[in-house]
Amino acid sequence: MKPKKVTKAVFPVAGLGTRFLPATKSIPKEIMTLVDRPLIQYAIDEARAAGIKEFIFVTSRGKSALEDYFDNAPELESELRRKGKTEMLEVLKDTNMDSGAIAYVRQNRPMGLGHAVWCARRLIGDEPFAVLLPDDVIAAEKPCLQQMVEAYAQTGGCMVAAMEVPPARASSYGVLDIKNDLGAIVEVKGMVEKPKAEEAPSNLAVIGRYILTPQVLNNLNRMKQGAGGEIQLTDAIAEEVGGKAGVYGYRFRGQRYDCGSKAGFLQATVAFGLSRPDLCEEFGAYLNDMIVQRQAAQ
Ligand code: UTP
Repeated sequence: MKPKKVTKAVFPVAGLGTRFLPATKSIPKEIMTLVDRPLIQYAIDEARAAGIKEFIFVTSRGKSALEDYFDNAPELESELRRKGKTEMLEVLKDTNMDSGAIAYVRQNRPMGLGHAVWCARRLIGDEPFAVLLPDDVIAAEKPCLQQMVEAYAQTGGCMVAAMEVPPARASSYGVLDIKNDLGAIVEVKGMVEKPKAEEAPSNLAVIGRYILTPQVLNNLNRMKQGAGGEIQLTDAIAEEVGGKAGVYGYRFRGQRYDCGSKAGFLQATVAFGLSRPDLCEEFGAYLNDMIVQRQAAQ
């Protein structure tokens, strides 16, 4: 039987974003901008391209800027119209969500990613759903979630986006224990959250894109705190290993930027800046000058 279509996506955005303090004292991390678009816009565009129709945000106190971002801005729009700035009006269109397409639930304490997803359980109901972490930004010809939705149509079960990392970096990720390597798709026999380098079962790390079965929500119902005292999504997914539908990793095609870290955010800013036709010449020349100056100074 073909797996049910994935039309709902959860965006957990209730974390404290401590790595970006003091900025995140008053700005949600997801509103920070790569060039001129907030991180959340990249995730929404990726979800739309994958056929997602319902967008569920798990938020927390201090995230109202996020809700405002997706609202209509009638004064701004009429001013742009009056001034004939049609291009800017088009840009704004992407930020508008249809009434009822977007929903917000609160996580009242940051108890981990697993707990954040669990907070959305009533809105998800009994169907497969996607989870996108907006601080993982993925540049790809075919958007990553779209690649995964296509792969999921073949496998069913749970699917996590996977990326090769050097062993020393494994302790920052959930890592896959591989049962069967089929190329882009890998069948998984276990998952370990943040293993020590010598204990990592493979070099395939889980990053922030998932397609999950509703069974994972049942697993989260029973979950206790895992690594770091948080309720881990990885643990709830790992419980599905060996189940009827199984768990799969998907080696996506694309470049992932960890915009939850300062270095990753800066790398993404450079990459996205250089990929923009309106900026690449001036920005590229500036970067070249910087390199020359740095080399001269050494
Ligand atoms: P991170 O591990 O990056 O945590 O969460 P964080 O709080 O956002 O950032 P730092 O580490 O303090 O700098 C990964 C994703 O999970 C969400 C975050 O909002 C982010 O999208 N999250 C995490 C929640 O929604 N709730 C939580 O309790 C924890």
